[in-house]
Amino acid sequence: MKITVIGCGYLGATHAACMAELGYEVLGVEVNQRKRDLLTAGKVPFYEPGLEDLLAKHVASGRLRFTDSIQDAADFADVHFVCVGTPQLPSSMGADVSYVEAAVTGLAPHLTRPAVVIGKSTVPVGTAGRMAGILADLAPVGSAAELVWNPEFLREGFAVKDTLEPDRVVLGVASARSEQVLRDFYAPILETGTPLIVTDYATAELVKVSANAFLATKISFINAVSEVCEASGADVVDLADAIGHDARIGRRFLNAGIGFGGGCLPKDIRAFVHRAGELGVEDAMTFLRQVDDINQRQRSRVAQIATAMLDGDVTRARIAVWGAAFKPDSDDVRDSPALSIAGKLHLRGAHVTVYDPQANETARAMFPTLDYAGSAIEAAQDADLLLHLTEWPEFRRVDVAAVSAVVRRPQLLDGRNLLDLEAWRSAGWTARGLGRR
Ligand code: UDX
Repeated sequence: MKITVIGCGYLGATHAACMAELGYEVLGVEVNQRKRDLLTAGKVPFYEPGLEDLLAKHVASGRLRFTDSIQDAADFADVHFVCVGTPQLPSSMGADVSYVEAAVTGLAPHLTRPAVVIGKSTVPVGTAGRMAGILADLAPVGSAAELVWNPEFLREGFAVKDTLEPDRVVLGVASARSEQVLRDFYAPILETGTPLIVTDYATAELVKVSANAFLATKISFINAVSEVCEASGADVVDLADAIGHDARIGRRFLNAGIGFGGGCLPKDIRAFVHRAGELGVEDAMTFLRQVDDINQRQRSRVAQIATAMLDGDVTRARIAVWGAAFKPDSDDVRDSPALSIAGKLHLRGAHVTVYDPQANETARAMFPTLDYAGSAIEAAQDADLLLHLTEWPEFRRVDVAAVSAVVRRPQLLDGRNLLDLEAWRSAGWTARGLGRR
């Protein structure tokens, strides 16, 4: 079977390469020439472990190609995946669905054979129903151009695994025919026992935003509790371990720290609240505003604690920041809490030197006024305070003695609660975490 993937950003490039791996012939549609040229050369325009190997393999085999022509896409296949972005609107908390709409309105007039268009982008509930109407109106084949909503749950850093071995497949469908097309398409994944949920458009759309809202809530919950731990002398890591043993709660996503960021969680919870408001049920989602507030407060809290560790004055202080990406195994700095904290301290007058194993360049593009170092040790040179803000494994392996040898004052704030504070303390450091003893 042949498929197309419209929009080859994070989601689309991963989906295209993984579907080629499953054996399909894939044509990716990407309008950005720089990205398209890179993809055509078998290169991924961002850092994602394992993806470039897969992409290069299938570009070389000829199973994966790229174009900028939607007409080519319509000629090439009858199954089309829409994987374009839905960023936060500049003027509100809502999601910008104009790229989704542009993909559907661009493709539909070329659909002269029965086709299935599958939306994978994260959208406000109600979008799929609207897109199905546009598709049937504009396609020459009319209602034989059908829409399915198939949300994607991939995590950056694990994108290939999450696509090829998802926890579940969710299909929002309006007809038995389109359901069958997708069941056949995903057969290699479903045959391994992956759960399948077949439902309506609205539920499929809401599954995605609810999953992200739940994860965000879990993180803000533990971060709120970490503040109480701090005030009472308790330890949030021991606490999370203890409550996490309850299978109803679970230990994952209970790591207190500087909070969540990235291109999904922050914008998705805001879009969820916004959409609930449009539907007249904003009160039901009020708690998500607090989830967002708690998350933002973590960033301010860390800046405050850092300032206190520098005796209340950051001007002229040298601060080393380990990590800039919003999470490890990624070079993504969108809404990164690490970079936001680095920026806050810089704007208050500190000299901030950042090191991230992959995200120095993406961070520099967003925050050119910070200093960037080529290694963890180089960043720590003459530092009065060291901040551990993105939990790359290499920071846990650093030789404490080597860091001690280069800093001006041995002070550490672990914003991810993952370093061995006792080891640092026994090397003479003042070391603290967030909500930790
Ligand atoms: C998320 C969802 O996990 C994924 O299913 C969805 O498809 C897209 O959005 P992603 O944005 O890649 O994926 O990151 P995720 O692993 O969820 O982490 C989000 C943020 O939460 C990161 O900044 C991470 O550092 C932070 N986090 C995560 C915590 O602060 N504490 C935790 O316990 C877990």
